[in-house]
Amino acid sequence: MKFEHTSVMPNEVQEYQDLKPGYTCVDCTLGGAGHGLRTMKAILPDGLLIGIDQDIDAIRNAKKILYPYKENVLICHDNFSRLPEILAANKIKGVNTILLDLGFSFHQLKNGQRGFSFNKNEPLDMRMDIRNDFTAEDLVNSFKENELADIFFKYGEERFSRKIARKIVEHRQTSPIKTSMALATIVADAIPKKAIYKQKIRPATRVLQAIRIVVNKELEHLETFMEKVPSMLLKGGRLCVISFHSLEDRIVKQYIRKFEQGCTCPREFPHCICGFVQQLKSVYRKPVIASDKEVAANPMARSAKLRVAQRV
Ligand SMILES: C[S@@+](CC[C@H](N)C(=O)[O-])C[C@H]1O[C@@H](n2cnc3c(N)ncnc32)[C@H](O)[C@@H]1O
Repeated sequence: MKFEHTSVMPNEVQEYQDLKPGYTCVDCTLGGAGHGLRTMKAILPDGLLIGIDQDIDAIRNAKKILYPYKENVLICHDNFSRLPEILAANKIKGVNTILLDLGFSFHQLKNGQRGFSFNKNEPLDMRMDIRNDFTAEDLVNSFKENELADIFFKYGEERFSRKIARKIVEHRQTSPIKTSMALATIVADAIPKKAIYKQKIRPATRVLQAIRIVVNKELEHLETFMEKVPSMLLKGGRLCVISFHSLEDRIVKQYIRKFEQGCTCPREFPHCICGFVQQLKSVYRKPVIASDKEVAANPMARSAKLRVAQRV
């Protein structure tokens, strides 16, 4: 199977990582290894790239792509929330750059056969890491109506969350929902036709996003990771995060703000008692977005936001 990749904002990521030969860099989301390969080439001859992905297909593909640089690469089939443990196990005290390009890959969408796309009749799975037990099929067929509605509203910002949840529960009383296409048809039936015509996106897009986020515990892993960022970066080291929806971007922004804050004691205090010291600074206040040219060539770049912070 051909493994395609369309890396989002490749030039911007390269520039903001500010790579130099000899650097130790982490690509937490190897995917098609587009960013990983560019990073690798920039840190030769004696740099080290640590590449992580929870998807075994991505790992197999990255091993092939990065094979010519095998002396300078460490590839880990793991969750990036475990980066502190991965670094400790390899006796690495700190790194120069960490990149996260969040969400699912072009390969998972187009060829993954795990129900990430509703254009094909694929099993309703949506696990990025197939070692986990819980699938989208389990969620859709076992969660209560109000739980489904809350998930669609919270993680998909879906206006018709209650109607959709009701339709799903009605449907599964006759037979379980087993494919992405079956789910997409039920969602489209639940949304008023007028609203469908007005929407720019396909009717099931938000529901599938919500299910994917819950199945893969995406926000929990991102929070676990962000909490430890300052302890993993060397002084001057850079964090680059590309997110694709506001829930992820908000987490990244809030953690950067938290670590940007220095002492929070009132000015009149003679000594600091809070103990907070600034650990990160934003390289840009506003997130970087893809150019019009890139969005025209790759519509997946439309919602991408890149945030960059530096260890102080
Ligand atoms: C948008 S793609 C990355 C594309 C890649 N940067 C490229 O240039 O081809 C996201 C990848 O991150 C992986 N991923 C998402 N969340 C992860 C996590 N918590 N831990 C490890 N890998 C994760 C997915 O399996 C997917 O392969």
